Amino acid sequence: MKFFIDTANLNEIKEAYDLGVLDGVTTNPSLMAKEGISGEENIKNHYKAICNIVDNNVSAEVIATDLEGMIREGEELAALDDKIVVKVPIIKDGIKAIKYFSDKGIRTNCTLIFSPGQAILAAKAGATYVSPFIGRLDDVSFNGLELIEQLVLIYQNYGFDTQILAASVRHSMHLIQCAEIGADVATCPLNVITGLLNHPLTDKGLAQFLADHKKSNG
Ligand code: E4P
Repeated sequence: MKFFIDTANLNEIKEAYDLGVLDGVTTNPSLMAKEGISGEENIKNHYKAICNIVDNNVSAEVIATDLEGMIREGEELAALDDKIVVKVPIIKDGIKAIKYFSDKGIRTNCTLIFSPGQAILAAKAGATYVSPFIGRLDDVSFNGLELIEQLVLIYQNYGFDTQILAASVRHSMHLIQCAEIGADVATCPLNVITGLLNHPLTDKGLAQFLADHKKSNG
């Protein structure tokens, strides 16, 4: 399973990259706003800065919701760096834009997926990734992980190349369960990735090893 970090914060991206286990970054307009990034040029420069940190797979979301606007923005974003994946919402013009980008060899991430039907449409249009938001489904008493299971089965049934990018991953158990089910990618905040390190027996065992070493070595 690939690990993407879900943030526009350069320090967090760098910290995750330095761990040596990071495969990409997802951003969205809310995450960009959280970092105080605004204005077309600043936004583009910020994407370039992210691309300079990581090796590949930087999702940059279009703001337009009409086909012409999405195509214009998506082409501009894709031209910034080969690492850019154009993020497009699952709406009617979004599907048309994904088909357009796919025919042109521009990678896409179809976002705001909450149902299997939406994911089928995105795959048929040629999306590189689909982003089912599991945490937001859990928030409204639907089972986010169940959606991942459905998508894994459906994509296997028809041999779709589209990769399932589990998004809105809120805690380390989400991440582990996505891996069990067979999501291709999970995107999450830094603390969810580093949370995988935690085990009290590891802490206890290490403390014991160091204490024993100190006893016999002074
Ligand atoms: C995915 O690409 C989104 O940026 C993200 O995972 C949304 O997560 P949230 O529901 O925690 O905002």
